[in-house]
Amino acid sequence: MTDSQRKILVTSALPYANGSIHLGHMVEHVQTDIWVRFQRMRGHQCHFVCADDAHGTPIMLKADAEGISPQQLIDQVSEEHQRDFSSFLISFDHYHSTHSPENRHYSELVYNRLNEKGHISRRSIQQFYDPEKGMFLPDRFVKGTCPKCKSENQYGDNCEVCGSTYSPTDLIDPVSVVSGAKPVERESEQLFFKLGNFREFLKNWLDQGHTQSEIANKQKELFEEELFEWDISRNAPYWGFEIPGEKDKYFYVWMDAPIGYLASFKHLCDRDGLDFNEYFKPNSECELYHFIGKDIARFHTLFWPAQLHGADFRTPTAVWVHGFLTVNGQKMSKSRGTFIMGSTYINHLDPEYLRYYFAAKLDNSIDDLDLSLSDFQSRVNSDLVGKLVNIASRCAGFITKTFEGKLSEQLPNPEMFEEFVQMGDSIAKDYEERRYSKAIRDIMGLADKANQYIDAAKPWVLIKQPDSMKDVQGICTQGLNLFRLLVIYLKPVLPITAEKAEAFLNVQAQCWSDIANPLLGHSINKFKPLLTRVEDKQIEAMIEETKVEQQPVVSGHLAEDPISPEVSYDDFAKLDFRVAKIVQASHVDGADKLLQLTLDLGGETRNVFAGIKSAYKPELLEGRHTVMIANLAPRKMRFGVSEGMVLAAGLGEKDVFLLNPDEGAEPGMRVK
Ligand code: 2FM
Ligand code: ZN
Repeated sequence: MTDSQRKILVTSALPYANGSIHLGHMVEHVQTDIWVRFQRMRGHQCHFVCADDAHGTPIMLKADAEGISPQQLIDQVSEEHQRDFSSFLISFDHYHSTHSPENRHYSELVYNRLNEKGHISRRSIQQFYDPEKGMFLPDRFVKGTCPKCKSENQYGDNCEVCGSTYSPTDLIDPVSVVSGAKPVERESEQLFFKLGNFREFLKNWLDQGHTQSEIANKQKELFEEELFEWDISRNAPYWGFEIPGEKDKYFYVWMDAPIGYLASFKHLCDRDGLDFNEYFKPNSECELYHFIGKDIARFHTLFWPAQLHGADFRTPTAVWVHGFLTVNGQKMSKSRGTFIMGSTYINHLDPEYLRYYFAAKLDNSIDDLDLSLSDFQSRVNSDLVGKLVNIASRCAGFITKTFEGKLSEQLPNPEMFEEFVQMGDSIAKDYEERRYSKAIRDIMGLADKANQYIDAAKPWVLIKQPDSMKDVQGICTQGLNLFRLLVIYLKPVLPITAEKAEAFLNVQAQCWSDIANPLLGHSINKFKPLLTRVEDKQIEAMIEETKVEQQPVVSGHLAEDPISPEVSYDDFAKLDFRVAKIVQASHVDGADKLLQLTLDLGGETRNVFAGIKSAYKPELLEGRHTVMIANLAPRKMRFGVSEGMVLAAGLGEKDVFLLNPDEGAEPGMRVK
């Protein structure tokens, strides 16, 4: 595949600034990063930007619950997100925030242009209002009984039991999730983006292969709706940008979120002297790609192209959609310990293992992708350690010990080398078209061939026979040259291993075109192990830490999170419940959910990490009593050792209640 230098801008979806990065996010960011690294290796100018999605009601309420300003919250989270992404080797050129001057500028610009061209309308609508909190309630902040199947405790937009969708005002016995108050209906004027004006444009756009066909067809269903409008305003109080020319009206978070792509790139342009206009003018020849999950396809394949087009900007070259991550065949679950945070994974395992595993399973479809932890372990161990690294470790020693680190002047089997080079084109095409699983299959097929070559040539036998000893240098030179090609092919996926291999082979940073020329008569360095095996205990420790971090367990329906196996009364009786006094409570740096508690048991103190940060301010806990399991084996966590567990119950978030026997309680008292 040959092509001249392309100018490409790539984005991953902007994570919300109110939660931690988990392995579901990593599917997308790894998918994007592999593509970006591949383009750069091909010699293209490829810019990769992202940002935190920093506006909206959940962020406002979370900051409120934590007693900090939204700005403080988004600053903290931005730091955490950037740390997590960089630990997975995601190579952003810039990571911005939607709460930025650039984003305010472009949000206003897009809105003003749409407004000037008559694409904005206004009308009054009825919405739920929380009279206690004094705010309008987004759909997800109202709960009640499903009007169809009568299941209780369902969100205001759809029922998780019967799957029906409705508006919050249809719920039976609605309750505000924010205050628990009964919401009232209130009328207010809102602004709408008239998508109906873009019907023809969008139909064409969707028919031109700018996204996968399943996604395009799904969006077209909406064209049947007569009133094809999108509410882009929210009433104060709201955390976001005020709409120009309006009073107490803010842009809905989804209006300014994708504009954050422009804002982040603009920041990069200003920093690096790039021409923003060249990339975003209508009909720009530069390419623009968004990688996203299927849950947000509508925002990116209807609203976003229409916003761009209506505001005289270019539209995306493509919006590439991926499926969801499941773990061990099921939805990620907190109680099973499979809702794994990026930082928890990194505490136990190498990021390149996961990058490799995701690559080995990703293709260009919207199918879900399963992380089966046992398959993950065997795949990494057999492919990366058993096949790839094995080639180098089998050949390197002979070259360094017997041939002073020097490769031979010729390859004994140039045809085989050429066969490996020839595969480069189809592997590159697979990367380009996001068929990573196919690329990996082919690369591992080549690794098998290289190992078979060494098996058949038996350098370890020849080295002992004086007249064939010199053949060993050629065989190992052949093996190492094949290894080098495999490393180049895998470099978009395994950048650190590639870097280590380059140091060992004593070559500069390799790009795709370096495959053509073998290393001959060249001195290499001493071989050091490049990757080690994944051990059972690493995976177990990661699951264990995930379970502890997610305490208390707040889970969904029994169907998705079944009751654990029965325990005997004798087992239950082994638990020693005691009253403990909370003598100190504090935040834990870097932990989203945990508080650190120092508990007085009447004679000894315990250090316990409890997942109750969403519900309690630490200063309000000091001096109170709680119930703890006092004989739980200590557990090592990332933040320290937890020596017991406090008991709590509730629905989660703000509704977590420590079992709290303040009245007449004495530390150390047994609870029966
Ligand atoms: O679904 C999400 O996580 C959103 N924060 C994604 C936004 S992507 C873009 F539009 F900003
Ligand atoms: Zn229902």
